[in-house]
Amino acid sequence: MEFLEVLKRRRTTNGPFLPDPVSAEHQRVLVEAAAMAPSHFNSQPWRFVLVDDREKIEEVASISGESMTRLMEEGTFWKRYRPYFRFSEKEMEERRDGIFIDQMPSVLKPFRKQIFSNTGQAVMNRFGVPKTLGEDNRKLVAGSPLLLAVLLDKAEYRPGELSGFYSVFGMGAAVENIWLTTTELGMGIQFVSTPMEILENWDRIHRLLEVPDDLELMAVYRLGYVPEDQRRPTIDWSSRQRKRLSQYVFRNSCATPEQDPEGR
Ligand SMILES: Cc1cc2nc3c(=O)[nH]c(=O)nc-3n(C[C@H](O)[C@H](O)[C@H](O)COP(=O)(O)O)c2cc1C
Repeated sequence: MEFLEVLKRRRTTNGPFLPDPVSAEHQRVLVEAAAMAPSHFNSQPWRFVLVDDREKIEEVASISGESMTRLMEEGTFWKRYRPYFRFSEKEMEERRDGIFIDQMPSVLKPFRKQIFSNTGQAVMNRFGVPKTLGEDNRKLVAGSPLLLAVLLDKAEYRPGELSGFYSVFGMGAAVENIWLTTTELGMGIQFVSTPMEILENWDRIHRLLEVPDDLELMAVYRLGYVPEDQRRPTIDWSSRQRKRLSQYVFRNSCATPEQDPEGR
């Protein structure tokens, strides 16, 4: 694939993967692509754990599903992420970021109007919506042939210091390399983020992966080959919407937004 085509096609896969294992060669290509990323003083502060052990994947899946149910039941998800939801096409068209509320999982659609209110929360709980979403999440993770944990060397990752910032920056570049490479290999990738939202569940993942004291666990992803026809999953928080140039690029100083190309 042409490089710019890969950039355009890269996306978050929120649906199921094929059950086929990720070949050893592709696993190697992914982590070698990661290592080509830039890092401060070539420190290469990233570490990766490739998880293809079925039992471990099932365990992470259970923790992820449970976390999703709890975040939805307790309303934490909505409180934490409300600013990212857009409520009309007009707002979406103006801001061109975030997630259009219409994109929400079908089980949530009936509650669209009250989703951020206490009443809406109570109704959703009564209808068992959090459990449905949790189970869907568990199945998606369990059905993934490969998980990838991303860690940082704590000698470099020192939050609050420049080195901490640099190592996160480098890690982002490494993860983007992996993300782009999945596109080239016919694979998909998605954050398994719910466990990190609940401290004790994140601790369970640490124990499962036997993370040593000198490493910081930063993220877990699920990966696999994508089927030809990708149906929209119940949980799809991703959005292809992008800001106009004038909303994020400036010319010579922050006072002059870049002009948008004509017709955009
Ligand atoms: C730091 C970070 C955290 C993210 N967290 C999640 C997540 O928890 N679940 C998920 O499905 N996608 C997650 N995403 C993916 C974004 O939702 C996605 O990139 C965005 O909606 C644009 O969609 P696209 O990647 O398909 O272009 C995350 C992306 C980043 C960079």
